[in-house]
Amino acid sequence: MKTLKSAVAISAAAAMAFSMAACGARDTGSSSGDQSGAAASADKMSVGIAMPQKTSQNWVEAEDMFKASCEEQGIECTIQFANGGVAEQQNQVAAMIENGVQVLVIGAIDGSQLGTQLKAAKDAGIKVIAYDRLLTNTTDLDYYIAYDNFGVGQLQGKALLEGLEANAGESPWDIELFGGSPDDSNSLKFFGGAMDVLQPKIDDGTLVVKSGQTEFTQVATQGWLPKNAQDRMAALLTSTYQGDAVPDGVLSPNDTLGRAIITAVEQAGKPVPVVTGQDSEDESVTWVTQGKQYSTIFKDTRPLVKATVDLAIQLAKGEAAPKVDGATLDDSQYESMEGNPVKSFLLTPKIVTKDNAADVYKDDSHRMELVNAAK
Ligand code: BGC
Repeated sequence: MKTLKSAVAISAAAAMAFSMAACGARDTGSSSGDQSGAAASADKMSVGIAMPQKTSQNWVEAEDMFKASCEEQGIECTIQFANGGVAEQQNQVAAMIENGVQVLVIGAIDGSQLGTQLKAAKDAGIKVIAYDRLLTNTTDLDYYIAYDNFGVGQLQGKALLEGLEANAGESPWDIELFGGSPDDSNSLKFFGGAMDVLQPKIDDGTLVVKSGQTEFTQVATQGWLPKNAQDRMAALLTSTYQGDAVPDGVLSPNDTLGRAIITAVEQAGKPVPVVTGQDSEDESVTWVTQGKQYSTIFKDTRPLVKATVDLAIQLAKGEAAPKVDGATLDDSQYESMEGNPVKSFLLTPKIVTKDNAADVYKDDSHRMELVNAAK
């Protein structure tokens, strides 16, 4: 508890920065040049970057990184977020096609809802890259680039087990499971990866999901909204953990939801369980360093954005077999439709706990500052 005060101060500052960015009214129409909404100029390579809502810090960071990277490469990028939802994103993608971009980079809100726009892109000879989230219900997709999502889930499952072993005494351990938003195809991959590790331990009785809620549909968190996770955790505490009872661990698919789960437990006046996360968001870096949140995942946005811009340039130049440094090309794991595997460049995620935080973040001066401040 000795560090709680500074944690709260730092968290408040980070949360404010995040929510200011998240609420930024200027979310649409920014670009590396000042060509927003204008027709692409003839002499510059032009890329349309359609991003979802800013439901986690990594999306916020990606915006500036894309702008910087496009500028550095001398290409014209239009980057737009769709805070208003799926229809807004459909319109933004349609406008980018209309404006004659050569490549589309899409981080979808709902990857299954862009089929019409992707068909139009294909017909116009535009190359399409799915960024971070797969596009589905379509065959009009050229590449997928992301951190290995199933691998993220496996790391989360592993971290939950390790955290329980280290902190929760003898098994069996009571746990609860949370998933991401059902419209984001990543959510099932994260959950599948985690259950790949946890299911055998549920089967042999080491882990007990006390609420009995083990299906993805029961544990999903609509819209990745922290309020939904906090409400569900509060409801679980009331229904399943009366009196002094508390789960020993909670699988959380990302940091935003992990902190909401921790908050619900604290508000119920109970000790914080082992909680996982993902994204290395500022506030969670602090909490992990202090041991309040057990783990997070580092999916460094810098190499992902750089690799995506490199890939976009190669595709715009007509390169038939592009190469991406630091990523593995996989052509079987992800299907945009049954029987339609997508060429996927996958980067490797890293697990972070307080024991290895300083090592994992050593090349990220911002996160290193947070680690040092939280110690
Ligand atoms: C991303 C996660 C993120 C989540 C919510 C997912 O598609 O892969 O990193 O936490 O969306 O924004």
